[in-house]
Amino acid sequence: MRGLLYLCCWLVISGEIYAQVPESRIINGTLASVADTKHMVSIRLKKNDRNFGSGHICGGSLIGPNKVLTAAHCLFNSSKKRYRKASEFVVVMGTLNRFERNNGTIVSEVSSIAYMNTFTTESMRDDVGVMFLRTGLPINSSHPTVAPIQLATEPTPSGVTCQVSGWGRTSQSSLSNVLLTANVTTIRHKTCSTIYLGSLLPGMLCAGQLKGGTDSCQGDSGGPLVYDGRVIGVVSWGYGCAEAGLPGVYADVHYYHQWIEERNGNSALTAPSLTHLLSLWFGCAFWLWLRRK
Ligand code: ARG
Repeated sequence: MRGLLYLCCWLVISGEIYAQVPESRIINGTLASVADTKHMVSIRLKKNDRNFGSGHICGGSLIGPNKVLTAAHCLFNSSKKRYRKASEFVVVMGTLNRFERNNGTIVSEVSSIAYMNTFTTESMRDDVGVMFLRTGLPINSSHPTVAPIQLATEPTPSGVTCQVSGWGRTSQSSLSNVLLTANVTTIRHKTCSTIYLGSLLPGMLCAGQLKGGTDSCQGDSGGPLVYDGRVIGVVSWGYGCAEAGLPGVYADVHYYHQWIEERNGNSALTAPSLTHLLSLWFGCAFWLWLRRK
């Protein structure tokens, strides 16, 4: 409650100070270049993609020949309150225009998905997921417009300029047809905590421009925040888009890199923990003991 009050005050104050900033609208981005976005994928719902491109729901990053990093919330059907099946998705890479399908475009079915089972839509905690592609990048042959990107191996310093890309909203209502990129600056966790208070959890990373005007937005979720040629963040949430003083919030790839790397497509949704296995074992033992003759 107190958090909400602070947020309202902040909104009013920042609104006053920055009233001259143009209307919020990858808001304030520029056309992406193939060279900088070969890892970019469009995640679509098959049922809405009969008109190629119109099923786009989220972005993602190719992080292996057939492994895609995205946000857990992109895999979740919030109206049915359950995760979607892998078969509901189609992943498209190698085209800047989401409606265009050229020689280099790869369209793939999804064989399996994984997400952190601690993710919740209420808190947006642990908003990371991966998808495994049926038709990934052909191995041992270089592709002109598709290539994986590496994960961040070190924490990213604050105050550095990064790039966020996507086909998300450019204004209050519509998605972009072409891939856009914008420059945003990483913000100290401590500074961002004073903005979002209790909502900013460990594993979340803020980036934006405090004066507002430039940001990721709806439809960019799951997409990459890139610094120094590596993916450092996954578009997750924000309070509105591109509002002054309210940066975008990203899942911190470095924080989650072990979980991301450990997924391999063969495992169950999420690897069971030792405590799970132990309680399962004791449960079975107890059941057998109850049924003893
Ligand atoms: N949750 C949004 C999505 O599903 C992404 C929002 C990012 N917001 C922001 N202000 N950066 O596409």
